[in-house]
Parts: sequence; C-alpha cells; structure tokens
Amino acid sequence: MTQTPSDDRFALRGDLLDFVGTPAWGDVDSAAPRFRPAHWLLVEGGRIVRAQAGAPDAGWPRVDCGSRLVLPGFVDAHVHSAQIDMIASWGGGLLDWLQLHTYPAELRHADPDRAAAGAERFVDALLAHGTTAAVVMPTVHRASAEALFAAAQARGMRLIAGKVLMDRNAPAGLLDNVAQAERDCVELIGRWHGRGRLSYAVTVRFAPTSTPQQMALAGALCAADSTLYLHTHVAENHDEVRWVRALYPEARSYLDVYARAGLLHRRSVLAHGVWLDDDDRAALAASGALIAHCPSSNLFLGSGLFDWRALAECGAAVAAASDVGAGTSLSMQRTLADACKVQALRGERLTAWVALHAATRGAACALGLESEIGSFEPGCCADLCVWDWACGAVAARRDALAKGLHERLYAWLMLADERNLVSVRVAGIERWRRGAAC
Ligand code: GUN
Ligand code: ZN
Repeated sequence: MTQTPSDDRFALRGDLLDFVGTPAWGDVDSAAPRFRPAHWLLVEGGRIVRAQAGAPDAGWPRVDCGSRLVLPGFVDAHVHSAQIDMIASWGGGLLDWLQLHTYPAELRHADPDRAAAGAERFVDALLAHGTTAAVVMPTVHRASAEALFAAAQARGMRLIAGKVLMDRNAPAGLLDNVAQAERDCVELIGRWHGRGRLSYAVTVRFAPTSTPQQMALAGALCAADSTLYLHTHVAENHDEVRWVRALYPEARSYLDVYARAGLLHRRSVLAHGVWLDDDDRAALAASGALIAHCPSSNLFLGSGLFDWRALAECGAAVAAASDVGAGTSLSMQRTLADACKVQALRGERLTAWVALHAATRGAACALGLESEIGSFEPGCCADLCVWDWACGAVAARRDALAKGLHERLYAWLMLADERNLVSVRVAGIERWRRGAAC
C-alpha cells in the first residue's frame, strides 16, 4: 500500500481507547483504561502528537472514522512465522505435534526463496489481523530470520526476532551447531539489532532442543549485550516438563534450566508457563521476565489451564500471544476470548481490561517499549487500528444493548475478530485497509 500525503500529518477521529495504568485483577471499574469517544488523534511524522475533543484546525488533514473504535495496534508476544502453513493440523499433544507437523513445515524454510515468500505472507497476515508489533520465532535457518527482519523493515513494523537455536533432538535439517550458531547470531545481531524498529532476540527453541553448550552460548550472547532479548518456550506440557527433568537433572525446575544459563532477565520472553510453581513465579517476578500466555494454543494442544492470577499476584508480567501455528488464529480478539474461557475453567473471571491491556500497553511495558508502542501517549509511534464495534446483526444488537464501557468492550472481545478491522496504520502510514488490494 503506497504512502499518501495524509500519512505524514493527519488527525484521525474515532472512539479512542488505550491505558494509562495497569488494571488490577478482577477490577471492572478500573481507572486504568482511558476512553475518549469521538476524539481526534493528531499524528505527525509517524508519532502521536496529542488527542483532543474538538476538531483540529485546517492544517491537519482529517481522517474521520466517526465513532469507530480506535486502539493501539496489537502486540503478539509469541508467534511462529513459519507455522502459517500448518496451522490447525490434526493430532497429538505438543511433542507429537512438533514431529508430525511443525518440523516438516519449518524444514521447508531452509530454501531462502521460500523463507522470503513465507515471511512476507506472515507479516502481511499480522497486519491484516490488527497486529503491528510481535515477538516472532522463525526457524533455525539464518535465511528465515533475514527474511523476517527484511519484511518487517519494509513495512516499518516493530519486530523482535532471532534465528532459532536448536542443536539436538530434531531432524537433521533443523539442527545447527554451537560454532555455526554463534557465527549466525553475531552476524544477524550486527545487521539487524537496533535497525529501524527491529530488535534481536537470542532464540532458544526450548530446552530439549539445545545442548548445555548451546545454552551457554545463548547466555554469553545475552551477557555481552543487555539490550538483546531472549525468546523461548517454558513449561508448556506435562511430557515436555518430564523430558526437561531427565535432560537437566541438576536444575530445580524447567524455568531454572534457563535461569542457570543466564537466560532469565528483564528482556526474556518465555512462552506458555503453564506448569510453574511458586518459586518459579517468584523468580519470574524478580527477574522482570515476561510470560507470553498462549490460550488458544494451550486449548488446541491440550497443554493445560494457565494460572494467570497467581502470576499477576506475585507481580510477574503476562502478555497475550497467539502462538500460531499451535494457536488457531492470529486474531488477538480470539486469543483474548480464549484467555477468558481458560480463566472461566479455573473459576476465575478475566476482565476486558486485563485482557486488552495484555495485548497492548501491558505487553509494551513488559518489553520495555512503552515509550514506542501500546498506547496513544504523545511521542509514541502511531501504530493504530480502526475497528468496527460490531459486525453482523447479533454483534450489533449486543453492542446496542451494552450498559457501560466494560460490558461493551467485553462483548466486543468475545464477538469481534479480523472481520471487524477497517484500517491499520504503522507509524502513521496506512499499511492495510479493508477491501484494498494490498
Ligand atoms: N515448544 C517448542 N517448539 C514449539 C513450537 O513450535 N510451538 C509450541 N507451541 N511449543 C513449542
Ligand atoms: Zn510457540
């Protein structure tokens, strides 16, 4: 989609919703959300200038979205770029599913042309679901990380990614070794980390597919540069946890395997965390690491019911993540709706505030990116999405009858998805529009 004159300086009107604080668990009357209905959001040079109730002067080209919902672009805290091709595949818990479907799909990304086409498809799919920032796992192949960074760079997106480290317990075509992995990481970090809106994540697939020597390499890379992220999976599934115990008998827990390798720090993003204990939770809170909660994936693979409240109560950060292709949709509304259902099965009620915060400002804060993404604070990048409050007769009726903003937003989270999306802007530039040929 090409840049138009109104992309650099414009005022966009809609129902602006973002957060100015962290909503407390269970608090429906929270002061954390900031709702400014039919307000103008002023954007210049790709950044938020301010919001105001009255119309701006004629020097601001207007984009009038009436009373459509305007949100900061979603942040997907954990997703796999090479798993679009096998999303929603039948059969097996995590370990069988990896062998049956995931590894064969990832093997195909050894080919740089396929990796490039797949990366383009993937980032365009993120945008088409209203996700403008993501923490992404490509494959073990350097070309797949290169392609992903290049595709995000071309669209001006905020992306955190890195070549996957795996040197055992997987098919030969998906294995690296410590020396090659180090060369690849150093080269990729030099080329992409801090370039535009990109950051590098030292990416250990999960403890079973890395030798202790490779874990040590990952720890050394993190120790050498505290601005690098760490991205991995932890404690997702019972069989996986048992396997890790056998592979790392010296560790107190699965999470402790990472802690002992120097991989638990304030820039760590760990997907799942379904099977944690109190000591793990305390270690997460103390380190400032982020758990990427993947409810759709956990339901699809039958991995377990995430204890969000326990993590929230001990002060550990939680963000929402699709985990496609184990998750069955890139839609963050569907992801959050699944999160609500998981909590209901635990006897808890997730508020719309906690849910939406985990896909916007909460994720941004946990990633240390709150001055760039996740809200409409002046100075933030104008990554924003315009949404229909309702699509279809049932949603329209429910929306019309909603009493109060929480009820309205909760119904929206349950009923909306990418079909509600009208327009997506990344740093002010419209990158996706409903009906446009992108
Ligand atoms: N654990 C290790 N690899 C994967 C993966 O690709 N998906 C999920 N859900 N869990 C994993
Ligand atoms: Zn995953």
